[in-house]
Amino acid sequence: MKILITGGAGYIASHTNIELLAQGHELVLIDNFCNSVFESVKRVENISGKNLKFYEVDLLDIPALENVFEKEQNIDAVIHFAALKAVGESVEQPLRYYENNITGSLNLYKAMKKYGVNNFVFSSSATVYGDPEETPVKENARIDATNPYGHTKAMMEQILIDAAKAMDWNIVILRYFNPVGAHGSGKIGEDPEYPANLLPFVSQVAAGIREKVVVFGDDWDTIDGTGVRDYIHIVDLAKAHVKAIDKLSNAKGTFIYNIGTGRGYSVLEMIKAFGKACGHEVPYEVGPRRDGDIAEVLADPSKANNELGWKAEYGLEDMVNSAWKWQKENPKGYRE
Ligand code: NAD
Ligand code: WQD
Repeated sequence: MKILITGGAGYIASHTNIELLAQGHELVLIDNFCNSVFESVKRVENISGKNLKFYEVDLLDIPALENVFEKEQNIDAVIHFAALKAVGESVEQPLRYYENNITGSLNLYKAMKKYGVNNFVFSSSATVYGDPEETPVKENARIDATNPYGHTKAMMEQILIDAAKAMDWNIVILRYFNPVGAHGSGKIGEDPEYPANLLPFVSQVAAGIREKVVVFGDDWDTIDGTGVRDYIHIVDLAKAHVKAIDKLSNAKGTFIYNIGTGRGYSVLEMIKAFGKACGHEVPYEVGPRRDGDIAEVLADPSKANNELGWKAEYGLEDMVNSAWKWQKENPKGYRE
């Protein structure tokens, strides 16, 4: 298939692009580099041995966006990664988040309609469940996002579902749990300037860039009192997109899947596992709870296992080993 990848230079897209190229798909990437650099695209080209078509385009720029559809005739499907994704920042800058994520997506949906593209994969998030009543959580659980970023994801899902009904689009919504780790080559990985998530933070502490990890509370109702999450290896997550594209070529309708392992790890378990990967203990101290955090959330991935034929294959060791390899071999990320 010829697939348009929005946010094509970002963390999850880079890993997904490698898997899609390996399956023979043709890719057209767009990104505005608000949270990425072109180096990631070059490295994907190196790893896969294929040239990529790339457009530096902001989804808020309608003429530039339409120009891509105009030039690239016969796009079969879109995978929509482009979004702002930092929960804390979304609380401080809600209008920027709504404009980028909602208006940007609406521009994309309208361009798809104009140019007759009707297959779509959407990057959603476990964040749409908020603090679910039951965990592991199933796809039919209540949507109850608790911050502006989560609201943008829940709203985009709804807009997409309505649009798909009206225009006969085929869509797959993937709700990712906690993506971590890096490609086995050590050439691509997560490259945040200031890490908002646990594992990149732990990784920078292990590398001596930051002094210690602050554990956000050890009085949660969990196995050891620290928060428990369903961490998913980035390469497993990337492969779920290949399955989603396969689904679109042989089924019609709207499909929603949790993408997680179903197995949780606590903050302390993650820090300990990372210490093993890097060969020394990672210093930490226990601090107060973070606003808006929850004790535990895990995916029930059985729907994706059964219907998509996708299952997470990598375990915790692979997650932390790959994250450490990336950190060690690229101490400044892509910015060297
Ligand atoms: P990322 O920031 O690395 O990638 C997103 C890319 O989109 C970046 O390259 C950024 O420059 C680009 N972008 C943002 N706004 C744009 C715009 N208006 N026009 C063009 N490009 C734009 O993030 P990621 O971790 O790869 O996340 C990809 C998607 O997955 C996002 O939609 C995110 O919300 C979702 N998601 C991420 C996580 C996670 O923990 N990483 C979890 C669940 C869902
Ligand atoms: C994991 C655990 C923290 C940092 C977020 C978004 C979610 C999704 C994934 C995009 C929690 C603890 C963390 C630290 C800590 N992103 N922690 N010290 O909060 O599960 O999910 O990223 O869609 O929407 O909300 O991930 O990595 O921030 O936290 O103790 O310095 O680590 O309290 O228990 P989270 P996280």
